[in-house]
Amino acid sequence: MTDSKPYFDHVSATWDEMRASFFSEKLREKALEAAGPGVGTLAADLGAGTGFMTEGLLKKGVRVIAVDQSQAMLDLLARKLSEFRGLECRLGDAGRLPIEDGLVDSVFANMYLHHVEDPAEAIKEMARILKPGGILVITDLDEHDFEFLRVEQHDRWLGFVREQVSAWLEEAGLKDASVTCASENCCSDSKDSDQSAQISIFIARGRKGMSPCGPRRHR
Ligand SMILES: C[S@@+](CC[C@H](N)C(=O)[O-])C[C@H]1O[C@@H](n2cnc3c(N)ncnc32)[C@H](O)[C@@H]1O
Repeated sequence: MTDSKPYFDHVSATWDEMRASFFSEKLREKALEAAGPGVGTLAADLGAGTGFMTEGLLKKGVRVIAVDQSQAMLDLLARKLSEFRGLECRLGDAGRLPIEDGLVDSVFANMYLHHVEDPAEAIKEMARILKPGGILVITDLDEHDFEFLRVEQHDRWLGFVREQVSAWLEEAGLKDASVTCASENCCSDSKDSDQSAQISIFIARGRKGMSPCGPRRHR
């Protein structure tokens, strides 16, 4: 169990409200645009929470496997999005995703990477579950120094340096890696002090290469 699991179980019932105060739905549109998933394709939403990304994907006709460490979050997600077809929830951890190798066309991870224990390994797991040619989109926080987020919201990492994220994408074997500004901020006020965080958000994108064993040509 990760340190943040009890916290996310606890806040699951109020997560939608909290999330709306942190960042806007424009971020979801930008993440979706970056991958452009087609109707009927299969996506994974990692650290899905109550389904912020999942909902946007289902509305576009994309099938979704929503993964989270918190059953409380997944129960709410399933209840909220029960009208949609093509949704599957799986309880699991970043270090070993409960998804088969090469299964999904796209992977989304919104505000998940700064909670995982080992971001480089988590990105390798994301690459593992992608089909050849599949697209990974991570939306997360730029590096910051708001320590109160570690204590109050169980953040494991105080954001990331974009060059580091890009290097992790490349180490995971992803092609055309880019990490750019999402032109959106994550805003949060401390409950225990007068600090107020306003943190810029990046969009990281990478593509899994096509399999080296393509169709054989006969002479
Ligand atoms: C900040 S919330 C973001 C939720 C959702 N993506 C959103 O944008 O509203 C982070 C989510 O990641 C999940 N999470 C954190 N660490 C995880 C891990 N190691 N494995 C699986 N899920 C994890 C939490 O339970 C939580 O639901």
